[in-house]
Order: sequence, then structure tokens, then C-alpha cells
Amino acid sequence: MSKEDERMSVEESPKGGVSRRGFLKGAGLTAAGAAIMEGGLLGVREATAALREPPVVGPGSVSVTLKVNGASRRVDVEPRTTLAEALRFELGLTGTKVVCDRGSCSACTVWLDGTPVCSCMTLAVDVGSRAVTTIEGLAPDDERLHPVQEAFIEYDAMQCGFCTPGMIMSCAALLNRKANPTLEDVKTATSGNLCRCGTYPKVFEATLAAAKTGGHGRKGGD
Ligand code: FES
Ligand code: FES
Repeated sequence: MSKEDERMSVEESPKGGVSRRGFLKGAGLTAAGAAIMEGGLLGVREATAALREPPVVGPGSVSVTLKVNGASRRVDVEPRTTLAEALRFELGLTGTKVVCDRGSCSACTVWLDGTPVCSCMTLAVDVGSRAVTTIEGLAPDDERLHPVQEAFIEYDAMQCGFCTPGMIMSCAALLNRKANPTLEDVKTATSGNLCRCGTYPKVFEATLAAAKTGGHGRKGGD
């Protein structure tokens, strides 16, 4: 059988139709062609990149450098290691709590470049150069707590404390976005943070009181 015959036998079905492989290959080329038509020459590069294989990471440990609370920290992690696990088990930053470990409760909230994220749903290898801020790095310096932390103490806004670090990270991020939030703003900002102890009224009170102090601590971009 010639090389051309071999190729046809792989890519065409015995009844003369198109095989699954042939169809997928054709569809890929058609999509690339459509992207090129739409995007012109610039689109060529993007379409080619889309057809390339993604880089393989692992399966063994990978060395990554995380920027955590203003310091560069090198960790060896498996590709499956979450940011929460890297923070707690590799760096000893146990203030970040893991409760559901599946993105449902926000107890594990940290900031990436100032934006609250669930660290149990973020892979450590995907963090890249973004600045990670944890509850340990929220205070403006070693002498003072963040105003939201102060207010949580003053207004007794915690019971068992498992949700508290994540709750504080969500509330502090809100104050960075909006200096004078309404009660509705606070409710919205903490809508993903589950508290089994029912401290919500105190959390809302504390956050509104912290906003009135005017001091908002770290912004999370460093
Ligand atoms: S522990 Fe991450 S969302 Fe619950
Ligand atoms: S204080 Fe216990 S879960 Fe919120």
C-alpha cells in the first residue's frame, strides 16, 4: 500500500465517509482558517498558538516563586497543589483556612493583586507573578491591625473563627474598592462567605464601622 493509500485508510471511513479523526482535523483547520480570515495577519499568530499543545508541567514537583505579603517565597509543589495548600503547608501561613476545599464557602479567601479569590480553587503553579495577600499580611505594619481586624474584635464579629480570615479579606477588599460602602454593599461582598455560627449582623456592623475610620491598610498589589 502506498503512503497516500495508508493515509486515506486512516482518515476515511470504509463507506467512503469521513472518519472521526479526519473530521476533527478538518474542523481544527477550518477554525484556524476562520480566525485568520477574521483577524488578518495578527490572527495567524493567535490561531497557530491555539493549535499548539499546552506546556506540560509535572507530574513531579515544580519549583515556583510566589510573591506573598510583599516577599518572594520559593516553594516546590506538585502541579495539583492548591494555593491554599502551598500557603498552609509549604509556607506555614495557617491563617488561611480550608473548610470545604471546593469553592463553596470562601473561608480560604486571599487576594491576588488585590482581588479576593478562593485559594482552594487556585493552583499554586497558576499564580505566576501576581501578588498574594493573606490575612497575615493585611495589617499595615507590625504595630497595628487592619481597621477591619480591629472592628471585628471591637464588634465581636466572630465565634469559632473558621470563616473569619476569609470574611475579613472579603470585607477589607470591599473597603479598598469602595471607601464608604452601604449595608447592601457589605452583604454583596460577603455573599460567598459562609458562616455557620451566624455572625453576619456583627460582620456587617464591624465593616461599616471600619469604613468610618478612613484607614484601609494594604491594597494588596505588593
Ligand atoms: S475552603 Fe475554599 S471555598 Fe471553602
Ligand atoms: S464564626 Fe464560626 S463559621 Fe463563622
